[in-house]
Formats: sequence, structure tokens, C-alpha cells
Amino acid sequence: MADAIRVFAPAKINLSLHVVGQRSDGYHLLDSVVAFADVGDTLTISDASAPTLTIGGPEASGLSPSDGNLVTEVARRFWSGAPLQIHLEKRLPVAAGIGGGSADAAACYRGLRGLAGYDPVAMDESARDALLALGADIPMCVVSRTARVTGIGERIAPLPDIPPLPTVLVNPRVGVPTPMVFRMLEGKDNPPIDAPDATPDTLDAVIDWLEEQRNDLAAPALSIAPVIGDVLDAIHRTEECRLARMSGSGATCFGIYPTVAAAKAAARMLSRDWPDWWVAAAKTGVDVKPQLIRATT
Ligand code: C5P
Repeated sequence: MADAIRVFAPAKINLSLHVVGQRSDGYHLLDSVVAFADVGDTLTISDASAPTLTIGGPEASGLSPSDGNLVTEVARRFWSGAPLQIHLEKRLPVAAGIGGGSADAAACYRGLRGLAGYDPVAMDESARDALLALGADIPMCVVSRTARVTGIGERIAPLPDIPPLPTVLVNPRVGVPTPMVFRMLEGKDNPPIDAPDATPDTLDAVIDWLEEQRNDLAAPALSIAPVIGDVLDAIHRTEECRLARMSGSGATCFGIYPTVAAAKAAARMLSRDWPDWWVAAAKTGVDVKPQLIRATT
């Protein structure tokens, strides 16, 4: 038996996502409220005779460890110690708008920092920029806290008072390529939305606040994958659903419910009616940050 470290890679949910401009290099400037769920992938990192990545779990099919996985990239850039074996247990669908590869890359960064005895979530400017260059969502996934994110994802202001939100996540198993979604935005004018005066601290206040906001990537994603409209309708129709919205560049959508029991009942109904879709009940907005667990392999 060897010592290992286990790191949770939570799903990232964009509760709102406004596109507020574009940089000269083509990247879009965002103003987004992100929160993290208690469902996600797991990374297990242990000693090995040669660097290895293995991938397993219910969502592993179609992913190959040799296909330039972001986890390998992070290990290459941020680890110079003895060789490591990294096992990625995939539970989140890929190319789904809920972090996926970025969450795994961020978990790898946290795990390597933890192994080296450093604060897992700390990033100096050069680490943050290197992670941002690998994927604009990675720095926010390192922080893994409810936050308002601006820039292309590098400015992360935690919003500590949002209560955990009972949620259902639904993905119709259609991958939506992020660059294509952003490209289809070109020329669209999205009116800016004011930030709230204070962070809402009850579920009702969060819903009222979110109802005034949008996901500007929903319209282009819907034109690429019209099934997203079916997902939103199906979530809206579940009992007690308070809000239904797409996350990131899609195709995963989320519903928010007043109680965990209502979210679980909705997840059961959606799984029964749409057996081909990926459905998960979750609590979103929970503080899941470092979650480094010493384990044995
Ligand atoms: O950084 P990431 O690999 O997630 O981005 C994929 C693509 O999505 C980028 O190459 C870019 O075309 C687009 N994108 C964007 N603005 C962002 C994030 C991504 O235009 N803020």
C-alpha cells in the first residue's frame, strides 16, 4: 500500500454569465456568478516509478490519457518532484459547461500544492496566468468558492454569504464546443446588468437576484444544440422548480429548488422521463475548497 492524496474536483455552475466585452486577442470579458456543487470528479495522486495518468469512472468513455489531458499539463508545469501516478475518476460529463477538464486541472494543482506542503488554493500571479492560459475557468476552479468572476476569469471576488442551493444538473449528452458558442456571439449587444447592492443571503433573495440576470451564452448554445431548450423546459416543468438556466457554454442546465427533498424528487422524475440524459441532484454553493484527503492505494 502506498500513500496517496485524494482531491475533489467539484462541478462549476455559472449561476449567471454576462458577456460584457471582448479583448483584442478575441477572448470575451465576462461578469459571472459562479458556485461549486457537491458532485464532481476525483483525483487520486500517489508515487509511481514513471509519471502516469489513468482515467476511470462512469464518464470516462471517449477520454484518453494520452490526448493532452489538462491534468497532465498541470503536472508537467507545476511538479518537479518524484514521478506520480494520477488517477482521474470521471463522474461529470465532458464538454458540458460545468468545469469538467478545468475542474480536474484545478484539482491537480491543489493536490500537487498539498503534496508539497503549500496552501492548496494559493496562486501567485505567474501560476494564475499559467493556469489561465491552459483554460480560462481553471483559476476560478482552484478557488472553488462562490464568487463573482470578471475579466476572462482571472478576477475572482468571493461572495461568502450565498446559502447552499438545492439543485438539479441535467446534461442531454450533447457536447457543445465552447469556441463555437463564443464565435456565434459576435455582433450581439448584451445590456450590462448592475451588481447587487448586497450579497443575497436567503434562497428567496438569491432567486430574485438571479431572475434579473442571464446567461448570454444560452442563445448561441441553443442554436447549436436545440435540445438545450428541451432540457430547460423539462426542468421548468418539475415540481417546485424556482429557476432553470444553462451553465457556462452548455449544454448542462440547472434547476434550483426550495429544499433538498424537492431537488431529489425532480432528479428522480427527470431520470425516469429522460433515461438517456445525465441527471444529478446536488447542493450548489457549498464550500468545497481544498478537500485533500490522505488515502492509501
Ligand atoms: O480558455 P478556454 O480553453 O476555456 O477557452 C476556449 C475558447 O473559448 C477560447 O479559445 C475562446 O475562443 C473562447 N473563450 C472566449 N472568452 C472567454 C473564454 C473562452 O472567447 N472568456
